[in-house]
Amino acid sequence: MRCLLIASLLAGIAGSVSGHRAPITARKSLGFGPVHPHAVYHSSPYQIITNSFLAQSPNADPFEVARLFVDDILGGEHVQSSYKIRPDSYTDPSTGITHVYVRQLVHGIEVADGNMNINVKDGMILSYGNSFYAGDVPSLLSSPDAKKLSHPHREYCEDLTTALEAQFSTFVSTQNDQVPMGNQKTTEFDEFAGPLTHLHYSNCQFTELANEMASTRPQAIGDVGDMRPALIQFMVAATPNAEVVTDILSKYDQHLEKMTMSGVTHFAPGNDQIDFVVDNVPDAVNPVKARLAYVQVPTNDGSTELTVVWKFEVEMEDNWYEAAVSAIAPHRIISVVDWASDAPIPVPETPKEPASYNVFAWGVNDPSVGNRSIEKENFDGLASPVGWHSLPFDNDPSFEGVKPSKAFYRNTTTTFGNNVFAQENWAGQNAYLANYRPEAESSSYDFKYSPRESDSDEAMTVAKSYINATVTQLFYTSNMIHDLYYRYGFTELAGNFQQYNFERGGRENDAVIANAQDGSGFNNANFMTPPDGQNGRMRMYLWNTANPYRDGDFEAGIVIHEYSHGLSTRLTGGPLNSGCLGWGESGGMGEGWGDFLATTIRSTKNYSDFAMGSWAANRANGIRNYPYSQNETVNPSTYQTLDKPGYWGVHAIGEVWAQMLWLVSQALIEKHGFSDSLYPPMPFENGTVPVGDFYRPAVGKQPLVPIHGNTLAVQLVINGLKLQPCQPSFFDARDAIILADEELTGGENFCTLWKAFSARGLGKDATVQGRTPWGGGIRTNGFATPATCQ
Ligand SMILES: *[C@@H]1O[C@H](CO)[C@@H](O)[C@H](O)[C@H]1NC(C)=O
Ligand SMILES: *[C@@H]1O[C@H](CO)[C@@H](O)[C@H](O)[C@H]1NC(C)=O
Ligand SMILES: *[C@@H]1O[C@H](CO)[C@@H](O)[C@H](O)[C@H]1NC(C)=O
Ligand SMILES: *[C@@H]1O[C@H](CO)[C@@H](O)[C@H](O)[C@H]1NC(C)=O
Ligand SMILES: *[C@@H]1O[C@H](CO)[C@@H](O)[C@H](O)[C@H]1NC(C)=O
Ligand SMILES: *[C@@H]1O[C@H](CO)[C@@H](O)[C@H](O)[C@H]1NC(C)=O
Repeated sequence: MRCLLIASLLAGIAGSVSGHRAPITARKSLGFGPVHPHAVYHSSPYQIITNSFLAQSPNADPFEVARLFVDDILGGEHVQSSYKIRPDSYTDPSTGITHVYVRQLVHGIEVADGNMNINVKDGMILSYGNSFYAGDVPSLLSSPDAKKLSHPHREYCEDLTTALEAQFSTFVSTQNDQVPMGNQKTTEFDEFAGPLTHLHYSNCQFTELANEMASTRPQAIGDVGDMRPALIQFMVAATPNAEVVTDILSKYDQHLEKMTMSGVTHFAPGNDQIDFVVDNVPDAVNPVKARLAYVQVPTNDGSTELTVVWKFEVEMEDNWYEAAVSAIAPHRIISVVDWASDAPIPVPETPKEPASYNVFAWGVNDPSVGNRSIEKENFDGLASPVGWHSLPFDNDPSFEGVKPSKAFYRNTTTTFGNNVFAQENWAGQNAYLANYRPEAESSSYDFKYSPRESDSDEAMTVAKSYINATVTQLFYTSNMIHDLYYRYGFTELAGNFQQYNFERGGRENDAVIANAQDGSGFNNANFMTPPDGQNGRMRMYLWNTANPYRDGDFEAGIVIHEYSHGLSTRLTGGPLNSGCLGWGESGGMGEGWGDFLATTIRSTKNYSDFAMGSWAANRANGIRNYPYSQNETVNPSTYQTLDKPGYWGVHAIGEVWAQMLWLVSQALIEKHGFSDSLYPPMPFENGTVPVGDFYRPAVGKQPLVPIHGNTLAVQLVINGLKLQPCQPSFFDARDAIILADEELTGGENFCTLWKAFSARGLGKDATVQGRTPWGGGIRTNGFATPATCQ
């Protein structure tokens, strides 16, 4: 009966969705996971009180300092758990701060969400985040223990339904505003439960199936050596394709048999983790990577316990998931992060010769605010030492044939280089190497852009007729972003996107695959960020919001927003951890950083409010609830806004965060003035950076400090990303920015920053109770600043 209830809920929601958003194709995306009530982020030295840890000599090896610190925190309480320093830890030459990422191990197996990020400088711990599991360590997995952890399928199904109903009624009863009535109420439930409902539904379908199977053969609960049941269960939940679901459910055994695993199939605890690869997984476009891990799941008493999971990396047509599925009860999906992030879906009202490009220049956000002009390949010598159109033969996935002897770099005459591979993708497929790219004539990418009104069946043809200009624009904008972020510290070590890293550290072969006019959707865009060393993928769509269609590739704000997902995901929690901004407040801020950076990049000395995506969406106020504005009537968002109906989704949460950052940057501009260019001066040939009127005069080996408010804001935001913990809350991200200022300027903007954050309720006394994985909870605005600021 319970399961039937869920099925009808799903149908009801599907109906309301299609009535509400008919012309929009929404990419399906799951993102949720447990909250960690015990996770902490300490960002001021006085908060860092431990048993016996003392500041070390300023010359001490920062990794050794971190090790001593972790040992000290763990003390005697964690005798059964150990840890490893992750290989993506790095010392950032631009700040002198060493970012050490530590992963908890229990019985030699990683606790996937047991992270510490420790920021070390001059022998001192500047800040650290800690989500290590602190409870009793389970005894080694033996059959009886495994059984104890598992839930019978039917019981599980009932539990979840009850939980969902209870959560929704709590949600409704805690709203301050009037509860919306009628259809709208269903829509709100959709916002609330939408991402989970499909899971519930498929889990319960599985219950029926499992019961049938149990009658014909004994269930293999406790056999954690086989990850296929967990994986196939995840695919049922994850696929957007109903036919695939039907096929899996009707041919369950055949699918299971066809899926072949390479690697050892028996679970043997040891020090080294074994990775597996699973082939022939329905609806996955590549073999799935799998490994065993522990994750922390909440218990009824408000703490957490460890559960053994299979961690999967599943690449699908429209998603790239990192999922944790219980290894013992394979129908329990514990967390999912989609490495792909969408731009929001609006609700319709109803070193060679430098190349040149005919493009909307950097700073011209979209065709409504300027015309195209011829722009030079003005690459930054530090960020792109060989320009935008060269890459080593050895790092070029498109090169076939014999490399000329002694040649190292291949020069291309197309939109294909070390940072970005840009091409059309009308077919909407994952393959990109053979897709069409424009060819330069004498290094000139000057192509016609000629949108014109047409009948609707001709609209695609019109858009395709200017594909040369589109791909050129996407290539140009993406390279400009690469170079800009590089100069603010998104370098090879920090996990940036490049095929070749010029022996400057980090993992290579991960340029951004940028698809223009991607056929997999309309009226949107998305970016997939796998860990460092695997290509990021940006997909830009056409918008059928006007006649002629509008091409998202020409709206710089959308491209910047998307690329910024790569920035924030790689910088938060370390280059090799792509699971830190998956849901709730942290997922929301993942959207917010992109809006903030896009808005900052287009802003000029004369202050103006800005809306996101207004050209592509053909809506003056853009695709958010409000434009970004200093005026509280125009944009009333505060911290407490997150509790409102309609603020469960990451884009709504992100809008609140971006608004706060906008006010922070305006406060810094008021204090320090405005720089017309965000780009630091080009380095001298010897690599030294001239300070110009961009940086303050250099003091010894100290990091360079941008002079102006807008450049300083970008620097503090990017430094903050590196300092904050995995799965940061608004509070953590705020504290990380304040710490970044402490480190960069000695804290001279301490009160400016606190005042700006507190203006919208994120002051010292702001509180949140009962956060949920969906971003829920009860928040209270706080407008207080620290005592020294009064
Ligand atoms: C690429 O261009 C650079 C600069 O002009 C040149 O030195 C190099 O030989 C070229 N590479 C090849 C393989 O032609
Ligand atoms: C683009 O150029 C045309 C022709 O010179 C001009 O009429 C139009 O105002 C320009 N558009 C913008 C947005 O500047
Ligand atoms: C794109 O540019 C090439 C020259 O590089 C030209 O031959 C081709 O016709 C152009 N394509 C379109 C659709 O205009
Ligand atoms: C900024 O505003 C001032 C005064 O209104 C005006 O003179 C100036 O031209 C404006 N500058 C730009 C770049 O729009
Ligand atoms: C804020 O916006 C409102 C509505 O547009 C306007 O009436 C008001 O004058 C603005 N306030 C300021 C200080 O600009
Ligand atoms: C680098 O070159 C600049 C300009 O030629 C010069 O002023 C500076 O002293 C040089 N720095 C070093 C470390 O050689």
